[in-house]
Amino acid sequence: MRVLGIETSCDETAAAIADDSGNSIRIVSELVSSQIDLHRRYGGVVPEVAAREHVLNILPVIDETLRQAGLDPRNMSRQRDGLDAIAVSAGPGLMSALQTGVETAKALAWVWGVPALAINHIEGHIYSNFINRQEEIRFPALVLTVSGGHTLLVEMKGHGQLRIVGETRDDAAGEAFDKAAQLMGLAYPGGPIIAERAQRYRSKKLLAKSGSVHLPRPMIDSDDLDFSFSGLKTAIRYALQADEDWQERIDEYCHEFEEAVVEVLRVKAIKAARRSAARTLILAGGVSANRRLREALSVATEAQGLAFVMPEQHYTTDNAAMIACAGVFKLKRPKPYRKDFIADPNLGLQ
Ligand code: KG4
Ligand code: ZN
Repeated sequence: MRVLGIETSCDETAAAIADDSGNSIRIVSELVSSQIDLHRRYGGVVPEVAAREHVLNILPVIDETLRQAGLDPRNMSRQRDGLDAIAVSAGPGLMSALQTGVETAKALAWVWGVPALAINHIEGHIYSNFINRQEEIRFPALVLTVSGGHTLLVEMKGHGQLRIVGETRDDAAGEAFDKAAQLMGLAYPGGPIIAERAQRYRSKKLLAKSGSVHLPRPMIDSDDLDFSFSGLKTAIRYALQADEDWQERIDEYCHEFEEAVVEVLRVKAIKAARRSAARTLILAGGVSANRRLREALSVATEAQGLAFVMPEQHYTTDNAAMIACAGVFKLKRPKPYRKDFIADPNLGLQ
């Protein structure tokens, strides 16, 4: 079974083809055209700029992805071993960006005579973990999804059986990284830059004389499974304002900020996994690229006797391989799928 995945929810135009051989899912070809350099000068994603770029890039990206898989884009409907479906990110995301992917997918599906499948972008991030290694995941699983737009704890009892058990009440974890970076005059997106500077601070072994920067761990002891990151952003703003020499200590601020976010995510994810009697903890979303978070969760899950699965670095940020993989599982489920979907910027997970 072969599924073409399409992703245009934010600032990457991507296509990929997933091949399901029955017991493993392999990516046959994939392409990501990133607009990040274009948006960096504005300090964030500009929706109109993103929308125009998707329109320009979508067909060349799909065309090349098909060719790399040995398919002839001009002769698709008559090919054997062609495609069984087209899966597309239908939301959440930027409306004008999503629309390009969704309408292109529907038009190609109609011409090629295959079904178009609407995939929730967050569910796509979760399925980045099923590429090449679905056998490592035992249900029930608990998923920590951390991206620029979302911070969710999701109970996953099986394919298509998702239930949100905790979420952020304000900013997402990735958004908090980006905003904190902005306060320190660092470039967009801030997450990877903060992580790199935090690592530099630790490797210089300055930890011995640390202790001057302290940030809160919001909601770490609350009984629920929710998060709040806007207070952390305010805390770093005040700390910087009160510190005349903050510019000399940026690496230390980055380290403390990363520690605060990682600690809260770790504590709540483990608590949620225990409450759901999960057998596997799954990490997903753009912030899953964070090494400190990956290390902290692998140590904590080992101590709990939980299996831990995280996406390959390559699949942590937005890509279409995860959408194609989610499409394979959706196609295999017996339930009928909607054919008349449209892009939905607020598409819910359940
Ligand atoms: O999933 P994603 O690519 O896009 C959304 O759907 O939001 O996530 C992007 C987010 C950004 O906020 C970025 O700063 C964050 O993921 N991010 C990181 C790291 N790499 C990306 N945050 C912390 N550490 C990283 N290494
Ligand atoms: Zn994403």
